[in-house]
Amino acid sequence: MRALSFLPLLIAGAVFAPSGAAVAAPLPLTPYPAVVRLDPGSLSVPAATGISTPRGDAPAAADARWLAAESARIGGPVLHPGPTHTAIAFVRGKDPSLGEEGYRLDITAHGAIIEAAGDAGLFHGAATLLQLLTPEDGSTGPVHLPLLHIEDKPRFAWRGLMLDSARHMQSVGFIEALIDQMARYKLNVFHWHLTDDQGWRIPIDGYPRLTTVGAWRVEAGLPHRLDIDRKTGKPRLYGGFYGKAEIRRVVAYARARGIEVVPEIEMPGHASAAILAYPDLGLRPVDPATIGDWGVFPNLYAPNDHSLGFLETVLTQVMDLFPGRYIHIGGDEAVKDVWKASPEVQAKIKALGLKDEDALQSWFINRIGRFLATHGRRLIGWDEILQGGLPDGAAVMSWHGIAGAVEAAKMGHDAVLTPGLPFYFDNAVSPAVGEPPSRGLVIPLSSVYAYDPAPVGLDAAALGHILGVQANLWTEHMRLETRVEHLAFPRAIALAELGWTPQAQRRWPDFLDRLRPAMRRDEAMGLKPAESALDPRPTPVADAHAHARDSHQLALCTNRVSLNLEAPGPVAVEARATHLADIMNPCWLWKDADLSGVTGVRLTAGLMPFNVQIGADAARIPLSPALTPNGEFEVRLGGCAGPVIAGGPMPDTGADPEAHASAALAPSAGRHDLCILFTRPKLDPWWALGSINLTTGAQR
Ligand code: ACM
Repeated sequence: MRALSFLPLLIAGAVFAPSGAAVAAPLPLTPYPAVVRLDPGSLSVPAATGISTPRGDAPAAADARWLAAESARIGGPVLHPGPTHTAIAFVRGKDPSLGEEGYRLDITAHGAIIEAAGDAGLFHGAATLLQLLTPEDGSTGPVHLPLLHIEDKPRFAWRGLMLDSARHMQSVGFIEALIDQMARYKLNVFHWHLTDDQGWRIPIDGYPRLTTVGAWRVEAGLPHRLDIDRKTGKPRLYGGFYGKAEIRRVVAYARARGIEVVPEIEMPGHASAAILAYPDLGLRPVDPATIGDWGVFPNLYAPNDHSLGFLETVLTQVMDLFPGRYIHIGGDEAVKDVWKASPEVQAKIKALGLKDEDALQSWFINRIGRFLATHGRRLIGWDEILQGGLPDGAAVMSWHGIAGAVEAAKMGHDAVLTPGLPFYFDNAVSPAVGEPPSRGLVIPLSSVYAYDPAPVGLDAAALGHILGVQANLWTEHMRLETRVEHLAFPRAIALAELGWTPQAQRRWPDFLDRLRPAMRRDEAMGLKPAESALDPRPTPVADAHAHARDSHQLALCTNRVSLNLEAPGPVAVEARATHLADIMNPCWLWKDADLSGVTGVRLTAGLMPFNVQIGADAARIPLSPALTPNGEFEVRLGGCAGPVIAGGPMPDTGADPEAHASAALAPSAGRHDLCILFTRPKLDPWWALGSINLTTGAQR
């Protein structure tokens, strides 16, 4: 969980307004190419055919092998890289106007020709052809391609997807599959979030404890639900790290697909794992018991030569592993309390003649920026690096809306747009019951697609500093790789199109038509995109269940930090109920409930650890005295200030993550708003409502 100040807004069902004239039925291509000219007739590609590439052109030969392998996976034509019987040819063009990523695709009666000057362009051309070669509905045999001329290049240079491998870690195999999927849709930046409070995932020579200590934590959970290792009697640790050889493999894998990997090493905050491993990097010890928490920790690197020297050593090795232009240094959510309280830091601020801690952060980031620049690299950081002044040449990744990007672009700095709405894909894709855990807002596919990445109020020069767009997969709530997939796709396909396709070519209804075959193809590749993204509506209340509601079918009393959480349990248990709750105020509203004939209430609730670092904000969470050891539930009439009409003690949950409770309810006819909440004398643990049933005499 990030960004407690992030204002929750439900953008349910935002609709993309089509503009301009209607276009002919689009080709099944996503992202849609910049220029398409359809000619009469078609080319029949036989069930088996050759692909030719220029002699000695290793990247083109690799693209041909990729195209052949992908075609085989989707049951398309059998393609043989080689010079004979070719229907498909890769050609190196010289035209610089299409840039490194642009390409031409010509399909004539004689064959298909992909032409590009750049390696990335040749690859993108192959990805476009693969989409055309996709057989319809499992048919086999020859594929008929329309005769056409495509001239294509991206609208934006940066079309990124960020994966957080610190909160939960993914296998290299999964990451390669994610990169494959990005490549199919011409996404070209894989931003890899490798360090955070909860885990350090990259080995650094000379600092073994980063991975022997900093890469491991106790899985989030209640004390009695931790995954205990029978051999040691201690909680099993969660974590791991990527070997240097694995990292090089991922970088090469991405590069072969036109994708740059941008590593992120967080500083000066989100540093708990490093400081736990090497306490002298910080200013106060990190409590290992908190390291499995989410939220914003107060642990910052000490802004001295020792810690900066450490970070420069880390970055030297990072630059060796990641040859791309950009190095991301985080910079976000550095709560300065520890710096404020430290006489050493205060003396440093004075000695440097700086105004305050923000200026010190700027000094810190500037030093790192200069260090990267001397090595020919560019610093990019979250928009907080604007505080106190940006280093020369630094690029800004704007996540608090786009204000940071606008400010940076006006000052002549490059910026990437990744506003929380609609690009924090750790929010739900649909409000339906049964969606996987996530943050509690719903960001439907339509609102991703509706986003136009051209900030208003920027002149042409400043607009030129908008590098592009990115969506972020923070993984606090994605402990399984299938959940990353579900929350990433198909929304990342919409992202790809708004980063690639000219705004005037984008139309929501067309996109939906093109998306369906794309999702079928992704499934044939073994991926599980979220089908629910195509119909993101709340689960309707069936007549037979008029007296039952899941938490997702109730309103939350407030929407400060709403999350869709599963109750804790052993890591191996995949299927658990989810609970929609505002962790800053766990309270639910059943509006207009029909109480006629109702004589009782039954509910289920999950016992949740309060495992979020929120500093002083914890004081804003309402608590109320409990009469029994586990607290009580309350159902209040007419709203949360109304009288309690039913309530009772919550039981011990034992091994079961869900508790069941019930109580009688004094009859009161008609329809009323009900407020459901729980007494709770302290923050940890707390109850999250799962479902509630109003029972009639016959049922009780
Ligand atoms: C962020 O979400 N803290 C970049």
